[in-house]
Amino acid sequence: DWTPDTFIETTIAELKDKLQNDHVILALSGGVDSSVAAVLLHQAIGKNLHCIFVDNGLLRKDEFEQVLDSYKHMGLNIKGIDAKALFYDKLKGVTDPERKRKIIGGAFIDVFDSAAHEVQQELPEGVEVKWLGQGTIYPDVIESVSVKGPSATIKSHHNVGGLPDFMKLKVVEPLNTLFKDEVRRVGAALGIDPLILGRHPFPGPGLGIRILGEITAEKVNILQQADAIYIRNLRESGWYNKVWQAGAIFLPVQSVGVMGDERTYEYVIALRAVGSLDGMTADWIHLPYDLLAKISNEIINHVKGINRVVYDISSKPPATIEWE
Ligand code: XMP
Repeated sequence: DWTPDTFIETTIAELKDKLQNDHVILALSGGVDSSVAAVLLHQAIGKNLHCIFVDNGLLRKDEFEQVLDSYKHMGLNIKGIDAKALFYDKLKGVTDPERKRKIIGGAFIDVFDSAAHEVQQELPEGVEVKWLGQGTIYPDVIESVSVKGPSATIKSHHNVGGLPDFMKLKVVEPLNTLFKDEVRRVGAALGIDPLILGRHPFPGPGLGIRILGEITAEKVNILQQADAIYIRNLRESGWYNKVWQAGAIFLPVQSVGVMGDERTYEYVIALRAVGSLDGMTADWIHLPYDLLAKISNEIINHVKGINRVVYDISSKPPATIEWE
């Protein structure tokens, strides 16, 4: 019978056996899967696990600091890397969603690779990083080897196979037999913060595909503020856990508004909240009007540059969850 405790016990024993005194590097994303994988590996090999967490400038507001902090509290050996400037620079002038994804994925591999080399250099002579740890779960394995669902073929998701060829590392994936709900149960049994375990899915390219068209630091800043207001209100009203995924989207469209006796001409924020089982299909969530009204007021009153908020009432298919 499968239980989180027996899974943890056998997996840690297997990892110890497989890895012995080897060193492992792992990229944390702040999400459930990589966090659970990291804690399992940490329990098996302790300080021989080296975690890397990259700030690509496309995370949610304050997420880098908060997540880094909670990982440190868990005792993980972690390097946080501020690569915001590099990502913004590479994304300058780019508007095509697929090109953005490729650039973000490519920049991530570059940053991760140089961080991995740094980790290597800090190790004593003769000790080598031999493994790449990954939080791949069973559905990721299926999706990457068999029939690709609509979202996998239409958009290039790059959660699997992010290993650059030149890094001759063996891959260790302790969660690759588990489904998401099992990963959450294992995470809870490991004592991981419920705030991390209960997080909505968040795409690898992050806010980069929630800012339609060109990405700039200024737009990221606007979107982060609006998104933070939205997510905080979902949490405070109890809706966060009833929604599979939610987020704000920055529309590079200006519309006319009025403030005092001034005419404004500012951007639009779209709010999206969906219910889903696996992201392949999704229904928009009927959030209460009062809640939408409160969120809209707060965003318009507090986020400079926004004078209009709209709610996305499209289901998938034909709309996708993300706007890009
Ligand atoms: P769509 O927009 O295809 O999204 O309906 C389905 C699920 O996949 C996530 N998503 C991504 N995740 N890299 C990722 O890691 C991506 O490029 C990407 N695009 C979409 C999306 O957030 C949703 O959970």
